[in-house]
Amino acid sequence: QAQQATAKIDASRPGPQVHPDIFGQFMEHLGTGIYGGVWVGERSSIPNDGGYRRDVLDALKAIKVPMVRWPGGCFADEYHWRDGIGPRNRRPVKINTNWGGVNEDNSFGTHEFMGFAQRLGARTYVSANIGSGTPAETSQWVEYLTAPANTTVLAKERAANGRKEPWKLDYLGIGNELWGCGGNMRAEYAADVTNRFITFAKSGNGKMLKIASGPSDANYEWTETMMRMSAKHIDGLALHFYTRPRDEKWEDKGPALGFPEREWASTLQHTLQMDEYITKHSAIMDKYDPDKRVMLAVDEWGTWYDPAPGSNPGFLQQQNSLRDAMVAALNINIFTKHAERVKMAAIAQMVNVLQAMLLTDGPRMVKTPTYWVFDLYVPWQGATSLPVTLDSPWYHKDDVAIPAISVSAVRDTAGAVHVALVNADPNRALPVSVDLGGVQASGASGRILTAGEMDAHNSFDAPDVVAPAAFDGASVSEGKLSVTLPAKSVVVLKLR
Ligand code: AHR
Repeated sequence: QAQQATAKIDASRPGPQVHPDIFGQFMEHLGTGIYGGVWVGERSSIPNDGGYRRDVLDALKAIKVPMVRWPGGCFADEYHWRDGIGPRNRRPVKINTNWGGVNEDNSFGTHEFMGFAQRLGARTYVSANIGSGTPAETSQWVEYLTAPANTTVLAKERAANGRKEPWKLDYLGIGNELWGCGGNMRAEYAADVTNRFITFAKSGNGKMLKIASGPSDANYEWTETMMRMSAKHIDGLALHFYTRPRDEKWEDKGPALGFPEREWASTLQHTLQMDEYITKHSAIMDKYDPDKRVMLAVDEWGTWYDPAPGSNPGFLQQQNSLRDAMVAALNINIFTKHAERVKMAAIAQMVNVLQAMLLTDGPRMVKTPTYWVFDLYVPWQGATSLPVTLDSPWYHKDDVAIPAISVSAVRDTAGAVHVALVNADPNRALPVSVDLGGVQASGASGRILTAGEMDAHNSFDAPDVVAPAAFDGASVSEGKLSVTLPAKSVVVLKLR
């Protein structure tokens, strides 16, 4: 078996743009994802900018979060947008029936979400309530958000609530998981409902892309039906896929920390299925949309483990380790490969929930290994993908076998080429030789993310256990990049 990986970048056949929005983030009214994690209110002792945590804003700005999806998830199909506008002390308190049965005081609503996205400089993705709402409610929300100033009654109400000018709504989600928590619909029924809601949702302020509730995992029948019945009305079809160490039983996913090596391997094997799912859903989409106008929007992805010990199981809190960093990097490499069809994605979820960028506890905040992967891949945002072929050694653990190496490459808008390399083998350093396919370069340098333990992670008391370090172990000679990737590492290089 080969002990070295060989790859070839085909720079003469540049691929499509890696849409910045594949680095999008999902924030739901779930646990402390919003309340406490992003929003603390103006009167909080936690330093804030108009109610938004400053530490969180600064950290998210640094990774150039391009797009945020809100308010759910399952929460979206029970959310009534009118509950979240107007003076906060008069907003109704409801029960969050999906996530822990806690009170939802609606203090984070439409204005707060749009203000958050604006502070980040991020595009906006609002998921409408299709499951339990009406077409009128959705169309009025869109009107409230986007109608030009001083026009309709809703535009005037928006102004009375403090926002005269319309916002730009970039994406409208037509429900969420309509096959499940969004209404338990059959695909045919969901497609009819989707078409009906879309007919009446009209932006008053520029292009608004409509994203239909799509399949989960390998539900190809759903994709077939939605595309057959709705392709001409929609701009995107959502794909949801959660990575789990143990995928036999939903109730038993495996712990986030302290896992055996087999669960390192099975997690990475499971996450690599993203490639197969995207390939097969895309092939179905090609039948109905050969020009690839309709995007596949992977608007929920990431790891889902057993809840953190002692946490409210409805809050989906979990630690984030080097294993999550590998998952993030492998998926970004997969999205880069499929940039033609995958033009938007949203990791679940941004703060404190599932595979989060950031964890908070009262005034404290810590950046996760996943955060650092998003930081390493910033040059991918808006760059041109470059095709890569790869011959990799395999990593075996018990009954699990996966290619040890994953590679992606892009050319940024300034012309520089960047190469990302992942070594998923937790035990072996592996040499990789990359034929640069004519790209002129004399050297390469960049950063590495790795750690001693498979479940190395950052905590409030030890926040820098997993953080990028400078990496100068790569060389270029005769058109080839040579690098030995340490075990369980992500290395991102810029050629010069
Ligand atoms: O991200 C958590 C939940 O997972 C979302 O609310 C739902 O869409 C999915 O099932």
